[in-house]
Amino acid sequence: MKYKKNNKFIIHGGKQLHGEVFVQGSKNASLPIMSACLLSKEKIVLKHIPDIVDVHNMILILKKLGVKIIKRNGNLYINSQQANGEKLDCKLAKTMRSSLFLLGSMLSRFKTATITAPGGCKIGKRPIDIHIQALKKLNVKVFNDGELIHFDASKAKASKVKLRLASVGATENIIQFSSLLEGKTVIENPAKEPEVVDLANFLNSMGAKITGAGTNKITIYGVKSLYGTIYTPAGDRIATGTILIAVAFAGGKVEIKNSIPEQNEKLLQILVKMGCKIKIKNDIITISKTSSLKSVGEIATGYYPNFPTDLQSMMLALSCVASGKTCVSENIFENRFLTIPELEKMGANITKIHEKQVVVNGVKMLTGAKVKALDLRGGASLVLAGLYAKGVTEVSNAHFIDRGYDHLEDVLTKLGADIRRI
Ligand code: EPU
Repeated sequence: MKYKKNNKFIIHGGKQLHGEVFVQGSKNASLPIMSACLLSKEKIVLKHIPDIVDVHNMILILKKLGVKIIKRNGNLYINSQQANGEKLDCKLAKTMRSSLFLLGSMLSRFKTATITAPGGCKIGKRPIDIHIQALKKLNVKVFNDGELIHFDASKAKASKVKLRLASVGATENIIQFSSLLEGKTVIENPAKEPEVVDLANFLNSMGAKITGAGTNKITIYGVKSLYGTIYTPAGDRIATGTILIAVAFAGGKVEIKNSIPEQNEKLLQILVKMGCKIKIKNDIITISKTSSLKSVGEIATGYYPNFPTDLQSMMLALSCVASGKTCVSENIFENRFLTIPELEKMGANITKIHEKQVVVNGVKMLTGAKVKALDLRGGASLVLAGLYAKGVTEVSNAHFIDRGYDHLEDVLTKLGADIRRI
């Protein structure tokens, strides 16, 4: 990993992308799966785990909890036998939202846990009430103590839990917590995102009894213990989407391997409507773009299988160079239009309708500028816009992008982009 805090990307726009990419393992599947490793005292091997800052921080947090982890050739060798912690390292936990995903596995393993409000990108308020309500429903006691929240699961009981919103993290926490909880736990209105299914598949490969992941109701029969496993999380659907949008911006033809095309169905439909050509064969998506783009009219984010919020900033950026108007609505997070002022520095024409909706008026060209990544996906959208823009784009705060992309500049360079890290 060659990431440093004050890195920048320098991009000379105008180069087409050609070639093939083997897409990185999913960030949002790898992180909860790593946390769920606390649930077994046997050896676990996780394969094709992305080399990204969030994974690095998760490794540090787990090590502080006494977990042994060796990272070799993209694989993690994990042994939680000696795990002993019950208090998350506050400084590390504040670096990312997924530290919260440790709550379910820590509580299951140690019966008590203390956490601080988790960190992560500033894309919305991101409260944790759904996690807390769901755990309370399972008879976990919760005590607030200033910045710290203490949990006591010594009297926990399996039950039916209905989530107020289909929160990905809360669903993943309850799945982890109840895998070893005696009796039957039912999650109603769970998140249906593919990463939830990946977590359930991982736990089932260790002997858990989880059914219904990916549907409206998940049932978990607690088992006595979980054994070791060798597991490969799916390819990252958002990294796949990022490459697709990069080609839609820059032009060219790229074959993306290790993808699950149906997970990107909404994006693929939109890209075709905008003028890209898509071919699908098994786990390979081939995208080519040879002519200019036209607006798709409307993009609205929603829970899976709707259009993912994690691709919204990138599609908003792409709409900036599609002829016509595009109405973009963000329905998951309150603050995911952070990158608009940066895109405007590059010549984008965007009108805010209200907090959750903007209208993009397509322009012919963007111009390179000095811009700042303010969150992970918004940062990626600036890099992609830079591939298209005339002149040089400098994207500072690369550390936001490094949280979720495994050396994005290397992936793009291999495809012919002119991008370097300084
Ligand atoms: N929410 C609450 N209360 C809660 C939990 C969530 O009100 O207790 C709200 C959130 O504020 C948000 C909505 O529910 O408005 C959905 O949040 P969710 O809990 O589903 O998101 P998350 O688990 O915090 C994960 C991904 C995000 C992704 C979202 C939605 C990980 C590590 N993070 O976050 O990924 O945007 O699901 O799909 O899995 C990213 O990769 O860039 C990223 C932000």
